[in-house]
Parts: sequence; C-alpha cells; structure tokens
Amino acid sequence: MKKCDFRQSGRDSSEEEARASKASRPIIAVYPGSFDPVTLGHEDIVRRTLRFCDHLVVGVAETATQAKGSLFPVAERLEMIRAVFGSEPRVDCVSFSGLLVDFARDEGARFIIRGLRAVSDFDYEFQMAQMNRELWDEVETIFLTPDVHYSFLSATLVREVAGLGGDVSTFVSPLVLERLRRRFS
Ligand code: PNS
Repeated sequence: MKKCDFRQSGRDSSEEEARASKASRPIIAVYPGSFDPVTLGHEDIVRRTLRFCDHLVVGVAETATQAKGSLFPVAERLEMIRAVFGSEPRVDCVSFSGLLVDFARDEGARFIIRGLRAVSDFDYEFQMAQMNRELWDEVETIFLTPDVHYSFLSATLVREVAGLGGDVSTFVSPLVLERLRRRFS
C-alpha cells in the first residue's frame, strides 16, 4: 500500500506532532453510575470498554441525577465493584460527588461510558450526554450496548426481585448475590 506523504497532503509538521501526541496518549474513560448493586450487565459493559480503552475508572455517584432510594451504602457498592474487577489492573473504582464532568476531568478522562439497553434509555441518556457536553465541550459520551441477555437488566429490578425473594443468581456475580442474600435475610 502506498504510504501517505504528508508534505504532499498539505499537512504541516505541527499538525502531525499534535496527531502523534494524541495517538500516544492513553485512552482513559469513566463509567459513572449508581451501581446499586453492580450487575452482570455493568460487568459486560466494563469488559467491552476495555477492548478500546487503556484505563477505566468506574465512578459510583454520591449525587445521582435521578433520586432513587438506595439499597447499599456507597462504600459497600465500591467494595463489591472492587471485588468483581480485582484481577483487572486497568479498572479502578472510586466514588464521586458533584458534577460528572468535573470527576471525568479530575481523572484525566475525556470519555464517558454509558450502557444503552433499549430505546427507553435513550431520552435520559441523550439529555445527559448533551448537558455534559454543554458543561465541558471536550468530553465525549460513548454508548455501548450490553449482551442481549442483559438488555432488560437493571440494578433497580435486581433489587426489587431479590427483595421479594426471587432468584437473581443469573444477573449478578456470586459475591453480590451473597450480599443481597444477607441484606434481605
Ligand atoms: O446509573 P445511573 O443512576 O443511571 O447513573 C446516573 C449518573 C450517576 C450517571 C448521573 O446521575 C450523574 O451523572 N450524576 C452526577 C451529577 C451530574 O453531573 N449531574 C448532571 C449530569 S447531566
């Protein structure tokens, strides 16, 4: 294949330097959410993200946009996520409060990962992505779809089903299942 000659293509060296520095920068993303608790759907999104991302910071929000009653305190949610991804050095997990864009900036991330399960998610996700871009125009939201087996799964449903004595063993990892059992026993 013929190599592109940048002198002929009209690009100057500063443009090339900027491109090279961008290419050598690690791709860091944040994956924010409530994670109350972390589900196999969340785990699936993390694994998919690691296919194109060098480092992922899972951010457990202390200030969620939608006020929902929480089951697990933030510290326990963090513990579960850390246990689930303990063997993956490219994943960190921290809590954050305040604006998501400030958290992303502080983590050196210009990408926000969000899972998109169905059309019903779209309105809320679209609004958040546009608002986050208004707040920081360098940030990009990347939507990933989970495996089809998790396309209906939400932490809210897991909490509800587990609370009513239903079996959620196919929706959460064993250590999360154990915490749910303890919580509802
Ligand atoms: O898993 P969730 O509950 O859908 O996650 C929502 C979350 C945490 C991503 C959202 O509430 C959020 O970004 N909260 C931080 C506060 C913030 O920045 N709000 C404005 C976003 S448009």
